[in-house]
Amino acid sequence: MSAPAPVRRRLEELRRRINDYNHQYFVLDEPTVTDAQYDRELRELRALETQYPELVTGDSPTRRVGAPPASGFTEVVHETPMLSLENAFDEQELRAFDRRVRERLNVDAAEYAAEAKLDGLAVSLVYLDGMLTRAATRGDGSRGEDVTANVRTIRAVPLRLRGAAPALLEVRGEIYMTHAGFARLNADQAAAGAKTFVNPRNAAAGSLRQLDPAMTARRPLTMFCYALARIEGAPAPARHSEALALLATLGLRVSSDVEVLIGVDACLEYYRRMAARRAALGYDIDGVVFKVNAIDAQERLGTVSRAPRWAVACKFPPQEESTRVRAIEIQVGRTGALTPVARLEPVFVGGVTVSNATLHNAAEVGRKDVRAGDTVVVRRAGDVIPEIVAVRTELRPAGTKPFRMPASCPQCGSAVEQVEGEAVYRCSGGLVCPAQRIQALIHFASRRALDIDGLGEKIIEQLVERGDVRDVAGLYSLTRDQLVGLERMGEKSAANLFAAIERSKSTTLARFLYALGIRDVGEATARSLARYFGTLEAIAAADEQSLQAVPDVGPVVAAHVARFFANAENREVLRRVRAAGVRWPAQEPVQPQALPLVGRSFVLTGTLARMTREQASERLRALGARVSSSVSKKTDAVIAGADPGSKVDKARTLGVAVLDEDGFARLLERPGDANP
Ligand code: IVH
Repeated sequence: MSAPAPVRRRLEELRRRINDYNHQYFVLDEPTVTDAQYDRELRELRALETQYPELVTGDSPTRRVGAPPASGFTEVVHETPMLSLENAFDEQELRAFDRRVRERLNVDAAEYAAEAKLDGLAVSLVYLDGMLTRAATRGDGSRGEDVTANVRTIRAVPLRLRGAAPALLEVRGEIYMTHAGFARLNADQAAAGAKTFVNPRNAAAGSLRQLDPAMTARRPLTMFCYALARIEGAPAPARHSEALALLATLGLRVSSDVEVLIGVDACLEYYRRMAARRAALGYDIDGVVFKVNAIDAQERLGTVSRAPRWAVACKFPPQEESTRVRAIEIQVGRTGALTPVARLEPVFVGGVTVSNATLHNAAEVGRKDVRAGDTVVVRRAGDVIPEIVAVRTELRPAGTKPFRMPASCPQCGSAVEQVEGEAVYRCSGGLVCPAQRIQALIHFASRRALDIDGLGEKIIEQLVERGDVRDVAGLYSLTRDQLVGLERMGEKSAANLFAAIERSKSTTLARFLYALGIRDVGEATARSLARYFGTLEAIAAADEQSLQAVPDVGPVVAAHVARFFANAENREVLRRVRAAGVRWPAQEPVQPQALPLVGRSFVLTGTLARMTREQASERLRALGARVSSSVSKKTDAVIAGADPGSKVDKARTLGVAVLDEDGFARLLERPGDANP
């Protein structure tokens, strides 16, 4: 039975439409239809193809998973070898590279294409008459493995090129996994009891080398193309940047971070810019690549031992390194929480030297099975705190023991408790425990609390160890002589510290509340409590029910606050602190609804001339407004001082109002009129 013409036409139309949707979604990152619509059309296509199997084509979007599981990968020979890149390790080496290029080309300034160096795995794609016919890994550069069936499942890779395709096209690019995809995959793996991956690159490599393409299809892989290796039956572009533009018009995915630059200084600037953006890209890059842009110049420069003379990679500092765990120690926090911390042999990673990594809690240590003596992989990406991502069990020495939480607090010997359903173990010693006392004092003196300049961790430790200070009230009975007697404390700094302690007596109720370190009472909650109740006495007298009337205070926080003030020891400390002269301006309680800017949200950016950003936030919050750090559609206005950053641009795109400093002054003066 041959299919009627309308069916053929509909089939073609559906294929074209779905391929367009895939291109928009997976290549351009700009979805155009809802998932429901996409599914509907895909189902219709499947139904028609089941009915007319003779009309199924290789480029049909239903044929991404086509091949059955294989028993191995066959070898392919790369007609054009897949080269590697020479590295430049510092500015000097990059300048030397540029000098060699200019000398050989006999030019004053060279033109480069600058790109990110993606941290995934290289593949080669061959399209014959526009159809994807072969995908291969790099292998040793001359021979790789045929991974066509797997690569066909990656939806950023078109099965058929768009527009007028050349007779032959070979492209090179990097297959990788985004951070979001990686996190999702690892969560799924963990939920299924399967092994999790150490980093996105390993996850991408493992996913591409699955023998069953149906498995690869479930992995969130994507690809950026970064080179045109061969083209036949169409004119070859004269420049690398033009080649990339051509690939994009053929429907292949090309990074939008490619730039054409003249001269080495522009390259250095690009390096710095990309290094700054690295953590925000959403996928791993391990450096940048500069390529001489003109193809004829590339040919003149040629290749030496598997690396072209016309390209260079400038690596970023590594984000992962191996090191050894010297010990696992227990830290006791302000609230008694016990946190296992790995003490590491110092290692340079992510741009800093790391010698500690938190292990979060006992469950985490158990899951990773980190032991003292282990060699581990430490990762530090962006400003994220260093983390142990894997244990290299193959290097584990004999005689190590699994980690166990101690039954008693290593600082004070009190019993350790675990609250039902919580991952956290806590020391039950409260302020008996010196560690908790020290942490409570550090918090009390910190900048956003009572801001006692010069009262750092080392000094607090000494004061507690010598028995000079037991609690926060004790700070106010310290004598100048006691301070002078501390290690590494001269007359001058003792006098300064003494004055700072004196100064801290004049504060605000919100800061004081925050400084007490009540569990879950952060700055914002402290501010709400202060505003709502007006006095410390009123807060101390409130029961859980009335505490919950405060915006942002739920049952858990209310219970912590009530328990804190019910405790006789705490009340006594508060009495002594007040007696020492700690005070704040009296304030009238304010019902939140009565504040003029309640429910409004503001973002501050740039430098204000009349006050610091912090003071500006305080003023806004006092009027009931929320101050947040990023602009969204829900932002009422962005307040922009001098040299504002991208936040103003974002506000303009979203149609959010932007106030200058005069506008802000008017807002503070007459907030009731505000209608930004
Ligand atoms: S060009 C002719 N461009 O780096 C040079 N490579 O050490 C061929 N890579 O195996 C490579 N991003 O996996 C080039 N934008 C980029 C790249 C890139 C990542 C990888 C690629 C290659 C390795 C070279």
